[in-house]
Amino acid sequence: MTEPAKIAVRIERSHPDRWEEFHVDYRPNANVISVLMQIQRNPVTADGKKTTPPAWDAACLEEVCGSCTMNINGSVRQACTALIENICELKGDTYELCLEPMKKFPVVRDLLVDRSKMFDNLKKVKAWVPIDGSYDLGMAQPQSDAVRHLRYAFSRCMTCGCCLEACPQVNERSTFVGPATLARPLTTSTLLRSRMPR
Ligand code: FES
Repeated sequence: MTEPAKIAVRIERSHPDRWEEFHVDYRPNANVISVLMQIQRNPVTADGKKTTPPAWDAACLEEVCGSCTMNINGSVRQACTALIENICELKGDTYELCLEPMKKFPVVRDLLVDRSKMFDNLKKVKAWVPIDGSYDLGMAQPQSDAVRHLRYAFSRCMTCGCCLEACPQVNERSTFVGPATLARPLTTSTLLRSRMPR
């Protein structure tokens, strides 16, 4: 079997051309963010044209913040934990990688999108847990393991936007706010109720 030597990366750009292709050396255990950083250091396209470095968002680099979410080879996911050898098809000595921004959010630049509408929707449904402040919220009520298990699954949502991107009901003709906004009150309102005085 041929040892992979390079990664052919197609990136949907917002400027100056719609698509640009880059070739970078393959490094074992590379992920999508490290590949983007290789391109950032030397933004020259596969046909030798000097271009602008691609823009993307990332913060935690451990699949916690959700800011690096993008479409990777046709599927939406976090770029920071997308290992090239796991997600890319190997053709000869080359891994093929295609990167696009999420389509359900306004593109700021290249792979960087504005996810504000999702956070604005969380405010609309008051999806937060009140904390002790000027008054005592009282003791939490016991809850069954089965219910807690279900609520815990919802509480792990990191508001990355994956679910909006994948959901066909979220589109420009619909006012549907998407799963992230609907799921959050299931945890927060429940937590709120669980803290009501008995
Ligand atoms: S950088 Fe935070 S989830 Fe990828």
